[in-house]
Amino acid sequence: MKRILVSGGAGFLGSHLCDKLIAQGHEVLCVDNYFTGAKNNITHLLNHPRFELIRHDVTFPLYVEVDEIYNLACPASPRHYQRDPVQTTKTSVHGAINMLGLAKRVRAKILQASTSEVYGDPEVHPQPEYYWGKVNPVGIRSCYDEGKRCAETLFFDYWRQHNLQIKIVRIFNTYGPRMHPDDGRVISNFIVQALSGRDITIYGDGSHTRSFCYVDDLLEAMVRAMISPAP
Ligand SMILES: NC(=O)c1ccc[n+]([C@@H]2O[C@H](COP(=O)([O-])OP(=O)(O)OC[C@H]3O[C@@H](n4cnc5c(N)ncnc54)[C@H](O)[C@@H]3O)[C@@H](O)[C@H]2O)c1
Repeated sequence: MKRILVSGGAGFLGSHLCDKLIAQGHEVLCVDNYFTGAKNNITHLLNHPRFELIRHDVTFPLYVEVDEIYNLACPASPRHYQRDPVQTTKTSVHGAINMLGLAKRVRAKILQASTSEVYGDPEVHPQPEYYWGKVNPVGIRSCYDEGKRCAETLFFDYWRQHNLQIKIVRIFNTYGPRMHPDDGRVISNFIVQALSGRDITIYGDGSHTRSFCYVDDLLEAMVRAMISPAP
């Protein structure tokens, strides 16, 4: 049994990750400030003896004892992360610094929930991991894209400088139960429009492609990445 911190644990992906880790027999410490998450997502876990919930903003330091950290705290859709762009950058950058600092203090393994948005508006399709991206540093999406890129930089420097065990997972569009119905993203738009009997909106000429992933598959990949051997 490991003691595992999930930041952003009351969100869409984080709450499913808490479920999975509890089912695997671990102790789970869920940390969230409810910026976009909801207590409803984790109510069923509140009385579980191996589950603990802390209301906390990751832009402030946290002192706890854990073996692993999954850093998911960050609003994920443009509608949410553009609501307070300065806070979005702070959450990615200060959040990463605080979680990495914690990992360094207690020698925990740490995984970053990064994003396909680190590629920006890519010129290469599909994007291989060695592609560095084409990113705008001054646009209205930059708070998210550049925040996540800086978080990746911090993760790699903690690895090189402090020999921390780090993992980075670049997540592409993920869907499943508890996703935000009003986040303006393609799958939620399709589902909400279909359920309300409206036409389904396809932008452009219909030739766009996206990479979609079901939440259970993503979480299996995240947990496998966390336990994968160090390079
Ligand atoms: N869902 C996707 O398709 C997708 C794609 C790429 C990357 N990601 C990344 O995965 C992670 C989780 O995404 P999600 O879809 O579950 O989004 P979500 O909005 O449902 O979850 C994010 C959680 O982080 C919490 N949070 C935000 N700022 C915080 C702060 N300062 N301190 C503490 N908690 C904070 C929110 O309250 C919420 O519970 C995010 O880091 C996101 O960038 C998700």
